[in-house]
Amino acid sequence: MSKLKFDVPGVTLSALPSGLEILSVTNKFASAKISTNGAHIISYVPAGEKDLLWVSKKSHMTPGKPIRGGVPVCWPWFGSSDKQGWPGHGFARLETWEIAEAATLDSGATRVVLKLDSSMREFPMSGFPFTLHMIFTVGSTLEMTLVMVNKGEKPVTVGCALHTYFAVSDARKIAVSGLDGIGYFDYRVKTTKFDGNVQKGDLKIAEEVDYVYFPAPGATEIVDPGWGRIVKIEKSGSESTVVWNPWIEKSKVMPDYGDEEYPEMVCVECANAKCDQRVLQPGIPNILTQKLSLR
Ligand code: BG6
Repeated sequence: MSKLKFDVPGVTLSALPSGLEILSVTNKFASAKISTNGAHIISYVPAGEKDLLWVSKKSHMTPGKPIRGGVPVCWPWFGSSDKQGWPGHGFARLETWEIAEAATLDSGATRVVLKLDSSMREFPMSGFPFTLHMIFTVGSTLEMTLVMVNKGEKPVTVGCALHTYFAVSDARKIAVSGLDGIGYFDYRVKTTKFDGNVQKGDLKIAEEVDYVYFPAPGATEIVDPGWGRIVKIEKSGSESTVVWNPWIEKSKVMPDYGDEEYPEMVCVECANAKCDQRVLQPGIPNILTQKLSLR
């Protein structure tokens, strides 16, 4: 297990028997758990509240395997790869990141920074030299920032997402607001076109949902009457929002997802997907940010 080089109150590092490393963060505002596997936050609990994030009871919790829940960092592609045998949603979520920084801010919030850099080891699927930083600010809100730098000499196009799994009281009874009037790709049929789909009013979930909304640069909210809470999702650097719930049939074919778990979660993803992929110019940071809060 790596050693924590930073002596920050409320920040500890431990490992599961599988070797999966978990950073635990506790301060007066909230507690959080972040795995170095994929720079993947798996829990964010504001003081006195339920967890905002959801993780499947059947998730892998092993280095090198994707975690089903929390916030997978999808990079440098979103969805499936056109290369045979390459993993869905990129390789960054499968890699062990380095803990680059941990600090208490003047506000009392805690900042943790994880880093993945092409100089650390071989990344056969990257195709170009890169540096990624994933910055978490755990406070009365949860801020997540992915900073991507192309260290090569040519521009490269990447897709990515902060693929957030939200815990909800019952996905069948919530509403996702903020997408009214926005067109979407229906990813259930793997279409490359909008096919005329436009969101009307709030999104309600009553079947499998796998939509990529574009252009969707604004905030969304998950209105959850069962738990009497509204989760607000603000973002920048993203004009695509993905909403996903696998519903009944798809739940049964995913080995790392419980057959009966689909009512417990909804993914609302801050993405650079489809026509919202980004061109990384050499040396110029590209930044994707999301902020979660309760209201
Ligand atoms: C969503 C995609 O972002 O992630 C879905 O839109 C996909 O199509 C889902 O099924 C889960 O992906 P994965 O690779 O983590 O199983």
